[in-house]
Amino acid sequence: MLYLCLLPIVAGIASAINLTVASTGGNVTSEYMYGLMFEDINHSGDGGIYAELIQNRAFQGSTEFPSTLSPWSAIGNATLRLQNTSVPLSSALPTSVNVAAASEKTKGKIGLLNPGWWGIDVKARPYTGSFWALGSYAGTFTVKLQSAITNQVFASLDITSGCQAGMWVEHKFTLEPKMDAPNSNNTFVLEFDAGQGSVNFNLISLFPPTYKNSPNGNRQDLMSALKGLNPSFLRMPGGNNLEGDSYHYRWVWNETIGPLTSRPGRPGTWGYENTDGLGLIEYFNWCADLEMEPLLAVWSGMYLGGDVLSASALAPYVNDTLNELEFLLGPTTTPYGSLRASLGYPTPFPLKFIEIGNEDNLSGGATSYASYRFTMFYEAISAAYPSLTIISSTGDLTAVGPDSATDFHIYTLPDYFVSQFGKWDNVPRTHKVLIGEYANVQYNVLDQPLAGVNWSAPKLMWPVWAGAVSESVWSIGAERNGDVILGQSYAPGFMNLNSFEWSPDLISFTADPAQTVLSTSYYAIQLLSNARYNATVPVSSDADFGPAYWVAGVSDPGQYTFKTAIYNSTSAVPFNIAFDGLAAGAKGTLTVLTAPDGLSSNTLVNGTVVDVVKKIATALTANEEGAFEFELENYSVAVLTT
Ligand SMILES: *[C@@H]1O[C@H](CO)[C@@H](O)[C@H](O)[C@H]1NC(C)=O
Ligand SMILES: *[C@@H]1O[C@H](CO)[C@@H](O)[C@H](O)[C@H]1NC(C)=O
Ligand SMILES: *[C@@H]1O[C@H](CO)[C@@H](O)[C@H](O)[C@H]1NC(C)=O
Ligand SMILES: *[C@@H]1O[C@H](CO)[C@@H](O)[C@H](O)[C@H]1NC(C)=O
Ligand SMILES: *[C@@H]1O[C@H](CO)[C@@H](O)[C@H](O)[C@H]1NC(C)=O
Ligand SMILES: *[C@@H]1O[C@H](CO)[C@@H](O)[C@H](O)[C@H]1NC(C)=O
Ligand SMILES: *[C@@H]1O[C@H](CO)[C@@H](O)[C@H](O)[C@H]1NC(C)=O
Ligand SMILES: *[C@@H]1O[C@H](CO)[C@@H](O)[C@H](O)[C@H]1NC(C)=O
Ligand SMILES: *[C@@H]1O[C@H](CO)[C@@H](O)[C@H](O)[C@H]1NC(C)=O
Ligand SMILES: *[C@@H]1O[C@H](CO)[C@@H](O)[C@H](O)[C@H]1NC(C)=O
Ligand SMILES: *[C@@H]1O[C@H](CO)[C@@H](O)[C@H](O)[C@H]1NC(C)=O
Ligand SMILES: *[C@@H]1O[C@H](CO)[C@@H](O)[C@H](O)[C@H]1NC(C)=O
Repeated sequence: MLYLCLLPIVAGIASAINLTVASTGGNVTSEYMYGLMFEDINHSGDGGIYAELIQNRAFQGSTEFPSTLSPWSAIGNATLRLQNTSVPLSSALPTSVNVAAASEKTKGKIGLLNPGWWGIDVKARPYTGSFWALGSYAGTFTVKLQSAITNQVFASLDITSGCQAGMWVEHKFTLEPKMDAPNSNNTFVLEFDAGQGSVNFNLISLFPPTYKNSPNGNRQDLMSALKGLNPSFLRMPGGNNLEGDSYHYRWVWNETIGPLTSRPGRPGTWGYENTDGLGLIEYFNWCADLEMEPLLAVWSGMYLGGDVLSASALAPYVNDTLNELEFLLGPTTTPYGSLRASLGYPTPFPLKFIEIGNEDNLSGGATSYASYRFTMFYEAISAAYPSLTIISSTGDLTAVGPDSATDFHIYTLPDYFVSQFGKWDNVPRTHKVLIGEYANVQYNVLDQPLAGVNWSAPKLMWPVWAGAVSESVWSIGAERNGDVILGQSYAPGFMNLNSFEWSPDLISFTADPAQTVLSTSYYAIQLLSNARYNATVPVSSDADFGPAYWVAGVSDPGQYTFKTAIYNSTSAVPFNIAFDGLAAGAKGTLTVLTAPDGLSSNTLVNGTVVDVVKKIATALTANEEGAFEFELENYSVAVLTT
């Protein structure tokens, strides 16, 4: 209200924002309000979430990224060569490494060494390993975990060779270090005695215990970090990773299933060959492990860069999507349902949401998308699976079907996020909106408060606190419109600090779990996502939004959740909040996140976030008027529950 500005303000004490929260009359909110977006960007799948410790385990390659020996190196006087043996391990994995003595005089052990994904986390726990070997070797193989710095051996095991000339034989083992290594700069070694001829190896694999012990599963610590966000959906497998780059390798679902020996791998969009060990079924297992709703994206006929298929060329891909859905959802009496059952999953997977493509509004894709690409998928999928919610990827209503939703992405500056607080208040309620990617990527430009991102300037390395607060303002705006906003997911989720090309990211990591950095944005999302409610309720106020932004919700009667973020205030903001039905003496808990200043970041060098973002929970009691009084500093994100 304007007149407020004219009130005399006692030095340093701003007048309280008086709010009255009703108990009914709002809108039911989406149960999917906070979720995750994932794609295998620069080793956030392989070498990240996916727990496999060996890098380049099966020498997978393609025209774009030919098979390579990197990062393997020789042990002893050995020569390593890539070979396509006349008997391949499988048609999907034709290339193996041949390990031979460099000279006839070579004595002792020869073999190969893998540095992992910039290290291997060695702890006193069982590691499950396996390798396939081809040759006529009759001695023992030795596998070891050892320090790259001192060569100290933490675990070593001899395995009797099961080799039989002319055929590939799998060797399985468990390596159990007796102690934790002092750091993660460790390597894996596989060696054998020289003098009996060469041996070919393929699919050399080593897993630590995985989250929930899922086979071929995910890293425990990173999954626990995700669980902390209380996520309710997972958008996968991309993103750009779905689309394939100028080499036109889209993500192909049926090459990511079955035994690892039947997965050829695929050149990913981010500059390297993917193992596809983290495949379609593993994505669904990941959802089950974290109790998330899968949100599956399928390729829509546009490659990254803008090459688009004609309608007739696209038809087989629509059919391929129906095959994928039959694989996931069909009864075991159908061909693909029976394929699923044969892989150990007789029960269909749960699936409610399917997205057609990714950012089809870019690269001139909007016209073909609206005129036939979205339509072909929409018609085929809705006819076969009428209960699925189909999501278009343009973020607008240029491509729609009855009951379709759309996926809106935004990467921007803090001030712009805040200016968009009311964006969803007046959009049509006919189609739901997924905010499938959002993040603050640069800091505000001085004197240009509503400037857009300058894509030729560097992006933030780490999320900053003012950015996290602005994202929270934006999120509160989305929560106020939970009847139309399906949910939102920060992107990207992960950054491997040894190889990345997109920052900022929600969670940064290395091979060493002690180096994981949970960003300022992580903590803000964690606070908001863990405070869920069933329905929004009206809040009447004598102050406008800004610098405080809020939403209130109710679960069971008397159980209120009030969320607020303070952005750009010159002084602390006092609140006075009455909740319908709550009397004097009612109890509440206020949890506040703040940081030393808006530019504070959680970083690797500065250690864990608790050093930077302070989380304070305070018990509150309602005053004689039944209202809760408290004050919040600038750049606070807070949740009050009663
Ligand atoms: C809130 O109520 C108090 C007490 O009635 C009043 O002094 C104050 O000006 C009000 N705040 C606003 C923002 O109107
Ligand atoms: C409920 O949704 C309507 C639009 O459908 C909106 O105008 C109204 O503000 C919402 N109410 C609350 C309490 O969020
Ligand atoms: C193995 O075969 C693939 C596919 O034909 C080929 O691209 C690759 O160069 C071959 N590798 C070797 C080491 O011969
Ligand atoms: C290692 O192999 C080379 C040939 O590549 C040979 O000249 C050398 O003598 C060998 N060294 C040992 C210790 O076997
Ligand atoms: C591991 O240690 C070696 C030898 O000191 C060093 O060259 C290498 O850079 C280290 N690797 C990592 C990932 O720290
Ligand atoms: C995947 O499915 C397509 C048909 O949609 C088929 O042509 C292809 O052979 C399948 N690939 C595998 C590995 O089964
Ligand atoms: C896809 O097309 C093939 C061949 O035209 C057909 O046999 C198959 O049933 C189709 N798949 C689905 C799920 O309709
Ligand atoms: C989609 O692209 C068209 C053409 O470039 C543009 O007019 C429209 O605003 C875009 N929509 C979104 C949501 O970006
Ligand atoms: C934040 O404050 C700056 C400096 O006063 C101003 O330029 C900017 O517009 C403000 N942003 C918002 C979203 O209020
Ligand atoms: C990952 O990101 C870097 C930039 O940091 C880029 O140069 C590289 O090609 C990407 N891929 C790999 C495999 O590192
Ligand atoms: C709120 O949602 C929970 C979980 O869905 C449900 O058990 C509860 O009955 C709901 N309460 C109200 C008041 O709708
Ligand atoms: C790390 O912390 C120091 C001291 O608080 C601060 O000066 C520095 O800017 C921080 N570094 C980053 C990258 O946030």
